[in-house]
Amino acid sequence: MRTGAGRIDRPCADGGMMDDFTFSRSDFPENFVFAAATSAYQIEGHAFGGAGRTHWDSFAAIPGKVVRGETGAIACDHYHRWPEDLDLARDAGLDAYRFSTSWARIMPDGVNVNPKGVDFYDRLVDGMLERGLRPMATLYHWELPDALAKKGGWTVREVPERFADFADVVAARLGDRLFSTAPVNEPWCIAWLGYHDGIHAPGLTDLRAAARAMHHVGLAHGLAIGALRARSVRNLGAVCNMEYAIPASDAPADVEAAHRYDGIYNRWFPGAMMHGTYPDDILRGLKPHLPANWQDDMKIISQPVDWFGVNYYTCQRIEATQGEWPALGLAPARGPLTAMGWEICPEGLDWLLRRTVTDYTGDLPLWITENGMAGDDGPGKADNGRIDYLDRHLAVARRLIGDGIPLAGYVFWSLLDNYEWALGYDKRFGLVHVDFATQKRTPRASYRRLARALSH
Ligand code: NOJ
Repeated sequence: MRTGAGRIDRPCADGGMMDDFTFSRSDFPENFVFAAATSAYQIEGHAFGGAGRTHWDSFAAIPGKVVRGETGAIACDHYHRWPEDLDLARDAGLDAYRFSTSWARIMPDGVNVNPKGVDFYDRLVDGMLERGLRPMATLYHWELPDALAKKGGWTVREVPERFADFADVVAARLGDRLFSTAPVNEPWCIAWLGYHDGIHAPGLTDLRAAARAMHHVGLAHGLAIGALRARSVRNLGAVCNMEYAIPASDAPADVEAAHRYDGIYNRWFPGAMMHGTYPDDILRGLKPHLPANWQDDMKIISQPVDWFGVNYYTCQRIEATQGEWPALGLAPARGPLTAMGWEICPEGLDWLLRRTVTDYTGDLPLWITENGMAGDDGPGKADNGRIDYLDRHLAVARRLIGDGIPLAGYVFWSLLDNYEWALGYDKRFGLVHVDFATQKRTPRASYRRLARALSH
């Protein structure tokens, strides 16, 4: 049996920090793509341009759910400052820019189109092309229109069906100019953090709701792929997040718990999207809660895609707990940790990508669609920790390519400091520091070193 949760040789960084990258562009294949990512609600300023209320606005209004009750209302004011931000992406020497289209900006009530919303993305995509940046679109990066959340959000089938209409609107307006498109960012986070763990919008802790969301988010992906194909949009993909699961001890119960974590997190969506099947061990827990006739949707969920993206940040130590399935918890992380409290585990990326290729994606182009770290670094402070983190993960990317893994590109999270969801504005992931009081952008040392590394 593949445990999916074995030990890795060097799970954590040893503390040594570098102040420059050890790679340059010429160490990667000629057509390898370097990009940086952001997402709509995290940077745009949702108060502007006639966008509709989202379930994140409602979630943040519940006391105690989001640090200081912060929202994406102003964020980085990217809605007005996007030319400057795209200049920063270009000047870093990046080839592409991964952004998302806000459903609630384009369709404030989830159904009717706001012309100003689509116009904004039209300008943005043209702005990327003018700067030589290939537009990598994600249709949904978490801000569900509140009107649809009120109908049950991802627990009800109407939402994936509406999502296909939204995909059609984006395809009709932008589809001819997009380099790549993925319907959904990190389906696990949407379904599990939002409906099981309760730490993301809408904040439910309900296994039944989570199971339904785990199905409907996949269905949204499949329906949207169909809608995009119908409009001849090219280069369609999936973006799943993965975390390497390490058993907290050698006890069989912990090893099994880590395997369940791996299944819910890393195998459920790839299995559904690539093979049209859910993993048996996880179905044991979720099947009683899935919507009726869920099997009939598996063909839609597994619509062929052209590439597969993995967002990777960390590993987790998993222990068995008593109580409701999946009966697992997070054991304390072992340092050094990032400002998120996350372990630095480049070897986990190596293991997960190899397993993804072997078990799910085969020859399909693979992308690292997000990777990066939060640090406690102010504008004038060197962010050697970030350079070190990124360099270690890029070394894994190089090794994978050398071993024949079809890795096509790497995307830094993030171009800018931004709204880190329930953690508000304190957690800073940017290659560029943002002063949220003045909106001044200051490139960090990692940005400057990266620009140099990519120049030769
Ligand atoms: C993944 C998500 O896509 C992004 O929204 C988030 O900010 C980063 N991880 C960091 O947590």
